[in-house]
Amino acid sequence: MSEELGTLEDLPQDYRDELDRAGVAPLWPMMRNVLPHGAPQPVTQPSHWTYGALRPLLLRAGELTPVEKAERRVLVLSDPGRGVGAMQATSTIYLGMQLLLPGESAPAHRHTPSAVRIVVEGTGGYTVVDGERLPMEEGDLVLTPCGEWHDHGHDGDEPVIWLDALDLPLFVYLEGSYAIEGELQAQRNRPDASQVEYRAAGLAPTRRPGQRPRRYPMLRYPWTGTEAALRQMATYGEGIAELDYINPETGEDVLPALGFTAMMLHSEQTHAPPLRSSSCAFHVVLGEGETVVNGKVIQWGPKDTFTAPVFADISHSAGTEAFLIRIHDRPLQDKLGYYEERPR
Ligand SMILES: [Fe+2]
Repeated sequence: MSEELGTLEDLPQDYRDELDRAGVAPLWPMMRNVLPHGAPQPVTQPSHWTYGALRPLLLRAGELTPVEKAERRVLVLSDPGRGVGAMQATSTIYLGMQLLLPGESAPAHRHTPSAVRIVVEGTGGYTVVDGERLPMEEGDLVLTPCGEWHDHGHDGDEPVIWLDALDLPLFVYLEGSYAIEGELQAQRNRPDASQVEYRAAGLAPTRRPGQRPRRYPMLRYPWTGTEAALRQMATYGEGIAELDYINPETGEDVLPALGFTAMMLHSEQTHAPPLRSSSCAFHVVLGEGETVVNGKVIQWGPKDTFTAPVFADISHSAGTEAFLIRIHDRPLQDKLGYYEERPR
């Protein structure tokens, strides 16, 4: 195996000019850029957005820009490795913090990327997906999958803020990202599926011959249920309590590309996961602590968000009892056949 490959400068200028005119380039000077040895060399840098910094900026956006002028009033969390304005928090994950004020609505549309909302603050907000009205309570995870109509509304008295997580960067890269606009949806007069068909773990509506369940049967994962389940796991399980959000009909990840894992740390508990090939973002639902990502020390508090690139060396240390949701792209990597965990 050759360590040193030839460079562009090794080639005579007249030959390089001829290559330019022919619209071709030699592979060998740039091969290591796309096929580095042993592990990828991520552009993504670990980053941390405190809620204390984002919240006033978002509320000011509420004063400066009416929702009609924004459609979605969002501040995008840009990966510092790509610079402010980058529509990427990691290679595959878009993150935005969205504000909806009382009485406002965000118009209906549907698009090729899939989205998840993690509710950060406020009550009275709701998302309508394909006619199903999904209440948005703090910590809830609400899906708006690829191609599903969705709009947002707010019946409460205080601002509602949520974190949007999308697989948008992937769709932009694929030149497959677009949206279709529509009218606000008529809402079904019934609670959402998490309160009706999928009320209890391990129970699903009776299947009749030839009847296939909806592709996305449950669109809201209430935080109250997640927290209670984590507490039981933390009491009786071994190691750290972690739960994946899954489709209750198939047991698969909730979305095609992005996965979501809730975790609980006891006060003073530490956790150092294996090096994972997936990139990820952590959203702190409750608690305080410190995480070191590739040597960068991140002191986090409630409602903060931080990121880690692929194969990051991550060590968590909780100061108080803490609950986090990890957003990651393992489902995509599983489908592409290369998800990997390496020992530390
Ligand atoms: Fe959307």
